[in-house]
Amino acid sequence: MFLEYISLQNFRNYRQQEVSFNTALNLLVGENAQGKTNLLEAVYYLLTCRSFRTETDREMAAWESGSFYLKGAVQQQAGRKLAEIGFQTPSKLQIKINGAVVQKRSHLFRFPVVFFGPDDLCLVKEGPAIRRRYLDLVGSRAEPQYYRILKDYHRVLRQRNRVIKEKRFTVSFKKNLEIWNEPLVGLGSKLIKQRISLLNRLGVWCKELFFNLYSKSQVLTLQYMCTVDHHGDLDNLAGHFYRQLCLKQAEEEIRGYTLLGPHLDDFNISLNHRLAKVYSSQGQQRVAALALKIGEIQLLEFISQEKPVLLLDDVFSELDFERRGQLLNFLKNKGMQTVITTVVPLEQLLPSRDNPGRIFSVREGRVVETAP
Ligand SMILES: Nc1ncnc2c1ncn2[C@@H]1O[C@H](COP(=O)(O)OP(=O)(O)O)[C@@H](O)[C@H]1O
Ligand SMILES: [Mg+2]
Repeated sequence: MFLEYISLQNFRNYRQQEVSFNTALNLLVGENAQGKTNLLEAVYYLLTCRSFRTETDREMAAWESGSFYLKGAVQQQAGRKLAEIGFQTPSKLQIKINGAVVQKRSHLFRFPVVFFGPDDLCLVKEGPAIRRRYLDLVGSRAEPQYYRILKDYHRVLRQRNRVIKEKRFTVSFKKNLEIWNEPLVGLGSKLIKQRISLLNRLGVWCKELFFNLYSKSQVLTLQYMCTVDHHGDLDNLAGHFYRQLCLKQAEEEIRGYTLLGPHLDDFNISLNHRLAKVYSSQGQQRVAALALKIGEIQLLEFISQEKPVLLLDDVFSELDFERRGQLLNFLKNKGMQTVITTVVPLEQLLPSRDNPGRIFSVREGRVVETAP
């Protein structure tokens, strides 16, 4: 799928602007605070009715205005669609597809779009909760069964935690806990297996980006880190899980919550078998985080048979000249519509003979197409 054009009225620092996009690469070049990220936000909002920056629609209305209006045309396999979103303070929102009003909920997954920005570095740098959330979001979007297992597991986990918290100092504690061990182990083992298989699929797609940017010198690997010690014996995962859970009972009684299971798992992101979080440069970490997003996109594309639109905010700052060119080439070969913002001037981005697609300069809320 691709976005033909977007038109903005009173959206953040834009008064009135129309931008026509190329079906492949589009570069938005400009200094800081000119409106590059705002334009990506407008595209993302038009396609999903959600912002990656704020929960409050009103924030996106130009300060002196209190309302905004976005319009654009999207080409999908099923045909061309005209999308419109209008907002008026305090909270009047109207979404139209081909002129007909639609509900916000139905709009969310209509157009596949993926945003990657500076904050996504946390996928590599921060604690396990963020990576579990990433896996669970990707898994749930990819497979309804994943979502069902995840939801059921968390329901059982909540019940079991409540028993530990409320009954731990009573005589019936062991009996009460026992009721929840089996469903926790059953659902937990299913969830672990789903995650391992998902991570294996993502791993294959993530590797490709590193291969294209660094050739064979850097190999990216993803490894699921399970709190249940299964010694690679996944056929007997539930048995291992159950035995180890029973051994944790005394400690659970003291700490007051469930100490074993996929709700505590993580995955390692390694470059040449060293943890990226610890040993890699910020630039490499950013490429690793981007690789996870690329993996997600390819999985979504595989499932929906529609190429998502990719929005990349400021990915070049930490890459050297050669890597910038390789990344542009990689994205070009992927054949999905990509909009990239950059503060890096064009001459530091590409050799002059390369034409990456359409190039726009962004300045004080105005977008102008420039010759490459
Ligand atoms: N609701 C708004 N109305 C008008 N201007 C806004 C609004 N929200 C943010 N801005 C302005 O937009 C500019 C930031 O734009 P942004 O797209 O984030 O810049 P960059 O080009 O660095 O990505 C800032 O100058 C900010 O003051
Ligand atoms: Mg920005």
